Amino acid sequence: MAKRLALVTGASSGIGAAFAKDFAARGWDVALVARRRERLEALAGELTSAHGIEALVVEADLAEPGAPAAIADALKAAGRHADALVNNAGAGQPGAFIATSWADQARFIQLMVSSYAELAHLLAPGMAERGYGRIVNVSSVSALLPSANAHTRFSGTLYPGAKSLLIKFSEALHLELEARGVHVSAVCPGYTWSEFHDVNGARPVVSRMPGFWMLKPEDVASSAWDAVDRGVTCRVPGAWYKFLSGLSRVLPDPVGQAMMRAQERRMAKALQAESKSA
Ligand SMILES: NC(=O)c1ccc[n+]([C@@H]2O[C@H](COP(=O)([O-])OP(=O)(O)OC[C@H]3O[C@@H](n4cnc5c(N)ncnc54)[C@H](OP(=O)(O)O)[C@@H]3O)[C@@H](O)[C@H]2O)c1
Repeated sequence: MAKRLALVTGASSGIGAAFAKDFAARGWDVALVARRRERLEALAGELTSAHGIEALVVEADLAEPGAPAAIADALKAAGRHADALVNNAGAGQPGAFIATSWADQARFIQLMVSSYAELAHLLAPGMAERGYGRIVNVSSVSALLPSANAHTRFSGTLYPGAKSLLIKFSEALHLELEARGVHVSAVCPGYTWSEFHDVNGARPVVSRMPGFWMLKPEDVASSAWDAVDRGVTCRVPGAWYKFLSGLSRVLPDPVGQAMMRAQERRMAKALQAESKSA
């Protein structure tokens, strides 16, 4: 009998690669999706020899509207279906909202929102029919905290909103499908070691974060698995971020926003001092 299969988007790096390793270590087959085929092939080889599982490679640019359907077709052509879907691929859209082109913002929405919803729309019906499925949408703790300029400058003005949508979408889809054996969760990581901050240019800021602000991709993946398996629809990995997101629920908005601004001013001063001394 074929093993269960997890389709993981953004598997060529960071949190997605950690999800793929986590599923493979649990004996699942995996379908690895991203643009950098050579990275996916290297990971597929590593997982196949370490765990004796099957690893499919699907090259796709999820900022392109046709990508989710092409991914579902590739899975079908390989004679497989997905028992789990990890919607994780993502990148920031740095720069002020009004100074970036609409074409770039539209690609951001396609990658960060539409592709997640469409992949779930394509794969969840089969899961419901078979009576088993797990869907994880990788959101962000930024969806649960007051917005801050530094975050939106690097990740995009739409970023916290896009990530918030994934939380509500996960809750609603879970309610719709739970009785048919399909669990859906949003996982909301804080700062995590990956290539994300190299791609969006925030590395100089993030490298100044105290160690306890930084999560490991493998801890995000295992926390998400635990959440979706238990039917928890929104999981914040790590004690520090649980504390911060809990605090932001009880603080009045203006207080939370003032704290974020003060933190930004401290960070900007520290960066200025560093660039003067360099
Ligand atoms: N790192 C953090 O601090 C953090 C915090 C909260 C949430 N997150 C979220 O976590 C998710 C994963 O990010 P990460 O931290 O693991 O960053 P990462 O190391 O940069 O990985 C991003 C992954 O997404 C893929 N990707 C990017 N654009 C794509 C596109 N157009 N089409 C297909 N795949 C694409 C990349 O693959 P290719 O370049 O090969 O296509 C890569 O595999 C993102 O959704 C991010 O918003 C990250």
